[in-house]
Amino acid sequence: MSSKTYLKDYPAAVKDHVLFCKSQGMQVPPPSLLKTPEHLEKIRASARINVALLDYMDHNIKAGISTEQIDRWVYQITTDLGGIPAPLNYEGFPKSVCTSIDDVVCHGIPSSREILKDGQIINIDCSTILDGYFSDSSRMYCIGEVSEEKRRLVRVTKECVELGLAEVKPWARLGDMAAVINAHARKNGYSVVREIGGHGVGLEFHEDPWVSYVAPAGTGMVMVPGMVFTIEPMVNMGRAGFRINRFDGWTVRTADHKPSAQWEIMVLVTETGYEVLAW
Ligand code: MF3
Ligand code: CO
Repeated sequence: MSSKTYLKDYPAAVKDHVLFCKSQGMQVPPPSLLKTPEHLEKIRASARINVALLDYMDHNIKAGISTEQIDRWVYQITTDLGGIPAPLNYEGFPKSVCTSIDDVVCHGIPSSREILKDGQIINIDCSTILDGYFSDSSRMYCIGEVSEEKRRLVRVTKECVELGLAEVKPWARLGDMAAVINAHARKNGYSVVREIGGHGVGLEFHEDPWVSYVAPAGTGMVMVPGMVFTIEPMVNMGRAGFRINRFDGWTVRTADHKPSAQWEIMVLVTETGYEVLAW
């Protein structure tokens, strides 16, 4: 694994502006969260594997396969390309990918006993380590004939991510992004999970800041060029409440057992706006 160097001071181009924001009482990222051009090259290379995995699923996922098969594909393709699946053994997670079907909000564990069926929606959440650099993104897949009600949930959740992305620009606040996501979900009759959010990513799997998708506009950390974070709202068709499976310690399900959807992208704040690193 390569040794990473974390920034110890702000780059000259942003320093004055960051320190001004801080003096005004706003939450700002420490220098260590800002990525250098060298970091970003490595993160982009990691992200290329992550995107390749999700593209592979686009073409191969179908009714009749097990989520265990998805896990094997992820492990095989990632390692063939020189990477390591980040979920594997992460805080005891037993598999290489999260597979979350219907009322599973996130962190579903692949299993040979779980066979994809017509009409299901599934989130496949991939995360890759390449040369010590992390990427993280997920997509929804509709299996066979899916009801209009569930397809709408999947579509609106994707729209939430796109609307949130449009808010990413230097000196905006994380809450500006969260507020448009939450508003779009609510307008459509859905709710956004509150206690599970996104995160900084790149030099580690889960870095600061923790990212809410229900926070009010004008709150939260200032977006500074060089920050990388995920936009990954979990949108529930019914109520926002959930339960974590007490036997496996991972699988998160909606409390009302209605479906939940999630798309995840990984975004860099640039001098002019954003760059999507993984989608
Ligand atoms: N990929 C998830 C995320 O978006 C994290 C999964 S942790 C795991 O943050 F251990 F379940 F893989
Ligand atoms: Co993530």
